[in-house]
Amino acid sequence: MTQSMDDKVVIVTGAGSGMGRSMVEEFVAAGARVAALDINEPKAKEVVAALDTPDRAIAVAVDVSSEESVTAAVRQVLNWAGRVDVLCNNAGIIDSFRPAHEISIDEWDRNLAVNLTGPFLMARAVIPDMLSRSQGIIINTASISSLSAAGGGTAYTAAKHGVLGLTRQLTFDYGKLGIRVNAICPGATLTGLTVPEGGSDTLPDSDAEIMRTPAQRWAQPSEIARLALYLAGTDADFIHGQAFVIDGGWLTAARNPI
Ligand SMILES: NC(=O)c1ccc[n+]([C@@H]2O[C@H](COP(=O)([O-])OP(=O)(O)OC[C@H]3O[C@@H](n4cnc5c(N)ncnc54)[C@H](O)[C@@H]3O)[C@@H](O)[C@H]2O)c1
Repeated sequence: MTQSMDDKVVIVTGAGSGMGRSMVEEFVAAGARVAALDINEPKAKEVVAALDTPDRAIAVAVDVSSEESVTAAVRQVLNWAGRVDVLCNNAGIIDSFRPAHEISIDEWDRNLAVNLTGPFLMARAVIPDMLSRSQGIIINTASISSLSAAGGGTAYTAAKHGVLGLTRQLTFDYGKLGIRVNAICPGATLTGLTVPEGGSDTLPDSDAEIMRTPAQRWAQPSEIARLALYLAGTDADFIHGQAFVIDGGWLTAARNPI
């Protein structure tokens, strides 16, 4: 049975597409009020408008890599709902899959800014409110690229490894103060990041690498969102500082090709 999020106030970043969109839908369906944050505000508005109960959510523009933008967005959420119970740090971008000597400093900086500085800035902005109530949940969308190479290029892999470091340090610093922090490490998931709008030339399910994994398929974003919902609930109260791999066995297969 889905855990109730009754009147919890949840922020989801990267809410306009993919896993973030599914997180908005799952949390609202579980009874939460959700702030759908995205750099693409029209997309976030579409997500909110398509909900069965659009009055339980708001769309907020944010660039998670910008301190100013994050401060303004969190202020808007606090004005709307009065508090933040759960932060899903989910916004992210992929890199060009290139090795170190082939990437520009701009690509490196942008990837780190969105994928690592973004979750840090968002956490930093909501933590004072959480500390004031000795209560809060932070869920970082990391990746199998947080634990292994080859799921992205140099910048993405380095940034996503950093997200686990952030998860663990936040746990160390704030766990005793009531804030529970965990990370989700998805494998190949059908989202705007893997299948850009307009589709792709290759059929995702026939992708050779995917077919070598035990699950032999891509994940649906809702499967990742339901893990976030579980981690935000009281059933997960004893879980701190962990990295949950949800990859259809990809990493197992990478170590033991089948
Ligand atoms: N899709 C996969 O296979 C996969 C695997 C592992 C991890 N991930 C991670 O999952 C998370 C969600 O990605 P997705 O696959 O749903 O991709 P997606 O492209 O469908 O969604 C990402 C969303 O983030 C938003 N975004 C991008 N830059 C932003 C910024 N600076 N500020 C605010 N919002 C911004 C985009 O507008 C988009 O709506 C990312 O952190 C990604 O790295 C994805």
